[in-house]
Amino acid sequence: MPIHETIQARKVLEHIQPYLPGKPIWEVQEELGLDQVIKVASNENPLGPSPKALEAILVSLTGINRYPDANATDLKRQIAVRSNLSPEQIIVTNGADELITLISETFLNLNDEIIVPSPSFSEYDFGAYLMGAKVVGVPFGEDYQYNVEAILSAVTQRTKIVYLCSPNNPTGTYLSKKHLHKLLDSLPKHVLVVFDGAYSHYATADDYTVGIEYVKLGYPIIVLQTFSKIYGLAGVRIGFGLASEAIVQNILKVKEPFNVNTLAQVAATAAINDDKHVEASQEANTLGRLQLYEGFSKLGLSYTESMSNFVLVRVGPKAKDVYEELLSKGIIVRYGDTWGLEEYIRISVGNPKENDTLLKAMASVLQETC
Ligand SMILES: Cc1ncc(COP(=O)(O)O)c(C=O)c1O
Repeated sequence: MPIHETIQARKVLEHIQPYLPGKPIWEVQEELGLDQVIKVASNENPLGPSPKALEAILVSLTGINRYPDANATDLKRQIAVRSNLSPEQIIVTNGADELITLISETFLNLNDEIIVPSPSFSEYDFGAYLMGAKVVGVPFGEDYQYNVEAILSAVTQRTKIVYLCSPNNPTGTYLSKKHLHKLLDSLPKHVLVVFDGAYSHYATADDYTVGIEYVKLGYPIIVLQTFSKIYGLAGVRIGFGLASEAIVQNILKVKEPFNVNTLAQVAATAAINDDKHVEASQEANTLGRLQLYEGFSKLGLSYTESMSNFVLVRVGPKAKDVYEELLSKGIIVRYGDTWGLEEYIRISVGNPKENDTLLKAMASVLQETC
């Protein structure tokens, strides 16, 4: 027997599969020998990064012989001003992904439970499995709307975290302010609410909230934000959390000292103040969503109305074939099997030309396949 097979990984890892991201553009180009590839699979910003962030990165390049600021002081100050919280209520991490892992490491004991309205972002489950905790999935209601009563009924003595992803990935549906308030008031005091607002900037509903007001009111909630979506900085990996000082202090105990590199910190500090880029990205997304809705309706496809920068589309029993056919034409979308949604694909909002190309390709693929 080769020596490496005698080395046993931790038992809890039996539940974990390595994360499967959306296929990168270069891989599809290489595999299919295509020049033009459209990626609408990972909910990235089709407008590109904030130009101010790019400038900031260029200016900082010569300083990368130094370690980054372990405390992300400048960025925390900016976030504090923008959110009207204190820097001590902020933690900056290597993407929101890292923060989910850190929260899991900080709060989950063996056999604790997390509640995840499902289907949702897979990293919540990953964090729980890593710690030997259990995942209690609570299905969304009709049209993937949040079911507050069902979430509350799933709570036990062992429940440590309730995840609320709003707008939710992959459904695009959201939790109204009224329902968030109700949940926070009804949950027992040993439960931490992790409110994942990765897509908050795209939400246009009047009754949407990203939950920061509840941090201010002292509820046991941590709000997650990322620079990967609206700010267009997915490639440099940076996100942050907002919570009470006590919650943040505990999470800091498990954070690596230099988890966020210098270029990411300066880019994020510039991007958070680039209102022009944020507003342009919001407007483009709202229009792009409408373009997709109209196109899907013309194709006779049903979709879930989205408060985010992606749309979940019901394609039917041939969804996997449609996904593969689109891929062969150089269009990368996300197939829904990751979430147990075998008849669906999730499509990120691209720029107008990308949306148009996608819709035309879908029309011909649907004709050939279905
Ligand atoms: C709901 C949700 N939360 C968090 C993340 C992770 O963001 P980051 O790129 O900051 O790790 C994603 C990324 O797709 C997401 O969809």
